[in-house]
Amino acid sequence: MPGSRAPVPRRSRSTGSARSSRAATANRTPRRKPHPCPALRNARRHHHTAVTSRCPQGHRNLSREQIMKITVIGAGAIGGNLAVKLSAAGHDVQVADARGPEAVRAEVLESGARAVELADAVQGRDVIVLSIPFGVAGQLADLFASVPAETVVIDTSNYYPGMLSEPIEAVDNGQVESVYTAELLGRPVVKAWNAALAETQRTKGVPAGTPGRLAIPVAGDSEEARKVAMSLVDDTGFDPYDAGTLADSWRQQPNSPAYCTELTLDELPAALAAADRAKDAAIRDSLPERFAALGADPTVDDVVEMNRAAHR
Ligand SMILES: NC(=O)c1ccc[n+]([C@@H]2O[C@H](COP(=O)([O-])OP(=O)(O)OC[C@H]3O[C@@H](n4cnc5c(N)ncnc54)[C@H](OP(=O)(O)O)[C@@H]3O)[C@@H](O)[C@H]2O)c1
Repeated sequence: MPGSRAPVPRRSRSTGSARSSRAATANRTPRRKPHPCPALRNARRHHHTAVTSRCPQGHRNLSREQIMKITVIGAGAIGGNLAVKLSAAGHDVQVADARGPEAVRAEVLESGARAVELADAVQGRDVIVLSIPFGVAGQLADLFASVPAETVVIDTSNYYPGMLSEPIEAVDNGQVESVYTAELLGRPVVKAWNAALAETQRTKGVPAGTPGRLAIPVAGDSEEARKVAMSLVDDTGFDPYDAGTLADSWRQQPNSPAYCTELTLDELPAALAAADRAKDAAIRDSLPERFAALGADPTVDDVVEMNRAAHR
């Protein structure tokens, strides 16, 4: 049910009965790498089975079944951070960038994530996160043609016509951004991590249960895929909120009340409900002017306040 706050069940690793034994071998969960957190490294050394506690930094000690094979495509501000966070959480993470493995920053790789060629990035993965500019997903359609249907694909993109993207007529005429991306890619996507600033995602994630923890909306048509994305949002330090279908995800697009305004789980549902397409588009179009008024080097808090003020 959209809006549900029930605990997010973890997805068991699927073996896919119809797969060949070769594919099954390729998909076997890799040997768990040493955890970056010393507390959990020691816990693993002393326990035969996984413990479910978290280390003081909030890292969860994942069991074998909970470790997901994740590829992040796009190693920029959002993708690089997600690779770091998901790797630190204990997942098996690969990163692929348009300019090849050499373009992936050293600090991303320090987390344990591996840089791979784009051509090798999508096979045998449980989850693929697309963290690339809006409108370029069509360049990956051939690569994704052979990706199994059960692989969960998550889209982080946002459309800023004339600023970060060429104007796209279908989206200007009202097509929901991630629905457009799914069409370009030729397969369903879940929308997540689009409605929080890169700096919010990098610096404000905290362990589950921390008072004031910020929430991130997750939308998608497959309930199972949505739940997978929600569990990963949790792993990056944010409360996941089930925001319903992809068709509903216009409510978390730029510059809606829920977009980059740093809300908690208590505040987010009302903000999503208050979205208004015409008003939000007008706010987006006034962004260059409002952003310029913040000066040369605005902080993340300045930008969040600017976004909130636009809806008062
Ligand atoms: N920045 C934010 O605050 C924020 C917040 C939420 C969501 N988002 C959205 O998340 C997405 C990523 O944002 P970002 O800030 O991380 O952007 P970014 O720093 O510019 O990174 C984008 C990355 O995508 C790579 N890329 C571009 N085309 C590609 C392709 N065809 N195949 C593979 N990789 C490709 C780029 O590689 P090259 O450098 O080699 O071109 C770059 O590493 C965007 O859609 C953005 O709208 C951004």
